[in-house]
Amino acid sequence: LNIGVVFGGQSGEHEVSRVSAYNVLGVIDRDKYDIVTIGISKQGKWYLYSGDTKKIKDGSWEQDQDNLIADFSIFSHPEIAKIDVFFPVLHGPMGEDGTIQGVFEMLNKPYVGCGVLSSAVGMDKVFSKIMFQSVGIPTGKYIYFRENEWKRDTDSKIAEIEANLGYPIFVKPANMGSSVGISKAHDRNELVAAINEAFIYDNKLILEDFVKGREIECAVLEVGDVIRASIPGEVIPSKEFYDYEAKYSATEDSKVVIPAELSQEVTEKVRAYAIKAFEAIEGSGLTRVDFFVTDDERILINEVNTLPGFTNISMYPKMWEATGIGYIELVDLIIASAKR
Ligand code: DAL
Ligand code: MG
Repeated sequence: LNIGVVFGGQSGEHEVSRVSAYNVLGVIDRDKYDIVTIGISKQGKWYLYSGDTKKIKDGSWEQDQDNLIADFSIFSHPEIAKIDVFFPVLHGPMGEDGTIQGVFEMLNKPYVGCGVLSSAVGMDKVFSKIMFQSVGIPTGKYIYFRENEWKRDTDSKIAEIEANLGYPIFVKPANMGSSVGISKAHDRNELVAAINEAFIYDNKLILEDFVKGREIECAVLEVGDVIRASIPGEVIPSKEFYDYEAKYSATEDSKVVIPAELSQEVTEKVRAYAIKAFEAIEGSGLTRVDFFVTDDERILINEVNTLPGFTNISMYPKMWEATGIGYIELVDLIIASAKR
């Protein structure tokens, strides 16, 4: 079977994707699968890349001229034609949001993970929350608006925000990942600055009440017809919140605890909600579902990641390992879950 692994991409999570891809490429069973590697630069250029995978990790692959084919046509190149299954190891917009899934659909090839609609819904923090609420999964309080509304009448928008949410307020681009563009605003000045910053990344924002709670995550995997939820894990951020830097720089010592120390009842509820969330977005293959659990044991869903990270510190593979599925088997099951 030929697997087309796609890495990089145009989103703010390009670097994370390269590290995820390096790890995935390191554990794909080469006796079982042949690999075609496709890199997408930050500028959105597509390359066929056949060089050392270490260069994917450190980013120097784009200079590896001997092993690059640029500007090939994804729709007609023989290397692409021979791919049986695409594996997008991409995070964020233009990778995790249904766009590249649409390309695979047009190529009429199976691919790993969620389809066009579920990827798009999963990436959009507003639409996904609406779906979660529709199936009875509790969410925190939030409001959302677009840039034109903000510009049209900033003062009344601020009044509306302050009437609905209390400081501190989380300000997030509606479509992003890895906490890119997110800030926590403690007062009106910070709020305005945070909103302007977040509009760099998206023209729709979601503002959320700060939830005082532990960050609990759960991994979902579709094996055959069965949707499984892992043992939940907890992220203990080293900083005020688990931002991009804390997530991916080795110097930050965020801690993970797997299994998360939760009562049996909360653990089972988290797992059930994770599966429900996956079904609510009509997910397929894999997804990581992130929650807050408050001191009084309320469980609130935060978001889903339809293509979760596979870095050395990423929760998705770690939670499966704790549940009894090792990294190599996990990648094998993920590839097997690919659908048309
Ligand atoms: N968005 C990052 C890659 C994650 O959820 O792991
Ligand atoms: Mg995310």
